[in-house]
Amino acid sequence: MGTKFDVTPEKQASVPRFFYNQLTVKPVTVQGVSLAGKTALVTGSNSGVGLETSRQLLDLGLSKLILAVRSEERGQTAKKKLSAGRNLSDDSIEVWNLDQSDYGSVVAFAERAKSLPRLDIVVLNIGIGNATRVFNPKTGHDEMIQVNYLSTALLTLLLLPIVKEKRAVQGGPSRITVVSSEVSAWTAFKEKESFPLLASLDQKNAKVDPLDRMMVSKLLGQFFLSYLASIVPPSVVIINAASPGSVHDSEFNREHDQTFSGAIAKIVMRRLANTAAVGARMITDAAVNHGQETHGEFLSFQKIVPLAPIIYTAEGKKISERLWKETEEELAFANLEEILRTISEGTAADPQARPAAQRGRPRYGTPGCSQTESAESIGDHGPGGVLQPANGPILQNGHPDGGYLYSDWLVTISATEGVSRRRWHQQAHLAMVAGARINQPHAASTGL
Ligand SMILES: NC(=O)c1ccc[n+]([C@@H]2O[C@H](COP(=O)([O-])OP(=O)(O)OC[C@H]3O[C@@H](n4cnc5c(N)ncnc54)[C@H](OP(=O)(O)O)[C@@H]3O)[C@@H](O)[C@H]2O)c1
Repeated sequence: MGTKFDVTPEKQASVPRFFYNQLTVKPVTVQGVSLAGKTALVTGSNSGVGLETSRQLLDLGLSKLILAVRSEERGQTAKKKLSAGRNLSDDSIEVWNLDQSDYGSVVAFAERAKSLPRLDIVVLNIGIGNATRVFNPKTGHDEMIQVNYLSTALLTLLLLPIVKEKRAVQGGPSRITVVSSEVSAWTAFKEKESFPLLASLDQKNAKVDPLDRMMVSKLLGQFFLSYLASIVPPSVVIINAASPGSVHDSEFNREHDQTFSGAIAKIVMRRLANTAAVGARMITDAAVNHGQETHGEFLSFQKIVPLAPIIYTAEGKKISERLWKETEEELAFANLEEILRTISEGTAADPQARPAAQRGRPRYGTPGCSQTESAESIGDHGPGGVLQPANGPILQNGHPDGGYLYSDWLVTISATEGVSRRRWHQQAHLAMVAGARINQPHAASTGL
C-alpha cells in the first residue's frame, strides 16, 4: 500500500473503525474558500445531504446553483429554503429536472448542461436505499443499480466533454464529486464472479438482501470511479468520491423507516449518526477543498482513504475491467466511445489517460504487470526519484524503498533535502498524473 493513506484498505473497511470515526470525528465546516462567480450543480438536492451541500456551497458565496431534482415541486420548495435569508437574484438558483430512473431524462439533462457558461462543481448525490426489490420498468435493472450506479455513471460520462469545454472560461478543471459510502467495502459481493455481472444483479428470483444490494451499487460506483480516473486526466476534470458518513435525518431510509426493525434502527441512529448538515460538510469539503491529489480517490471524514479493498486486488482488477466493459455496452447508446476517445485530446501526455487499447492495465498495479512504455516516454528521473517499470520481483513485497506505485510505474523515492517524504509522494503523484517531469516542482492545486 502506498503511503498516501495512513490506513490499509482492510482497516479502513472495518465496521468498528467506521463507527469509531462516526462517534469521534466531527467534520469541520468548510471555510476560507470563495465560490463567488462559480457555478455548481447538485443532484438530488431537494432533501438530505444534497440539500445541505447546496446550502454550504451558497454559504461559500456560490453565484449560481442548479438543483437537479425529479420533482419540480420539491425542487421549488428546496429553492425557497435555500434562498431564505440570502439576497439572491431569482436566477441564482435554478431547478432542473433529472430523473435517474430514466436514461432519457439523464441525456436531456446533460444536453441542457451544455448551455451553462461554466460548470465549476458537480456533486452527483442521488441515491436510494430500497427496503424491497424494485425493477426499473424501462431497463429491467434492479432499481438501486439503475439509479445509484448506471445512471450516475451515464451522467458522469456525459458531463465529461461539457466540463472539459468549460475549462478555458473557468481557468481550470471542474470538480465532480460522487457521493459514495463506506458501505461499499461492507458487501460480500456474492455476484462478483457472475458473468455477465450487471445482468446477474437483475435476477428477479434471486434471494437478495436489499441492504446488500445498496452496498453493491455503491461498490460498483467505486470501481467505476477508479477506472474512469485512470483514463481521464485530472487536467480535464478532477473526479473524486466522498461519504457523508451516517446521517439520521435525511430521507434515505424512507422505506426502511416504515418497518419495525427500521423504526428501531432509526432511534439508535439518532444517537450515532450526524445530521445531513454535518454529513454534507464532508461532501462540500471533497468538492471544493481538494485538488488533483483526490482524483480517483475516496474521502471519508474529510481524509483521503482507500477505496473498498477488493479494488486493489488482482481479482478486483478483473472485475473492474469486466464492469467497465459491460457499463460501456449498456450505455453505448450515448455515444460513449466517441466521448472517451476524445476526452484526453489536447491535454498533456498523461500516463493515466491511456488510449482504449491500453486501458484496463492496473492503475494501482500488481506484481509483474506487463510494460510497453519506457520510463523516458513519460517522465524523468528527478533528484532522489526514479521511475521504473513496475514489473518483476521489485514489487513482490509491495513498495520497497518507499517506492510508490502509480499507474504501471513504480516511483522510487528517496528523501530529498528539505522535502518531506510525504511531500515527495504528493509531488510524484501529481507529476505522474499530469505527465510532468517529476524533477520539476509541481504546482499542486489545493482548492478552487
Ligand atoms: N443517509 C446516509 O446515512 C448516507 C450514508 C452514506 C451515503 N449516503 C448517500 O448520500 C446520498 C444522499 O442521500 P440522503 O441520505 O441525503 O438521502 P435522501 O434525503 O433520500 O436524498 C436522496 C435524493 O436523491 C433523490 N432521488 C432518489 N431517486 C431519484 C431518481 N430516480 N431520480 C432523481 N432523484 C432521485 C431524492 O429525490 P426525491 O425526494 O424526489 O426522492 C433525494 O433528493 C445518497 O447517494 C446516499 O447513498 C447516505
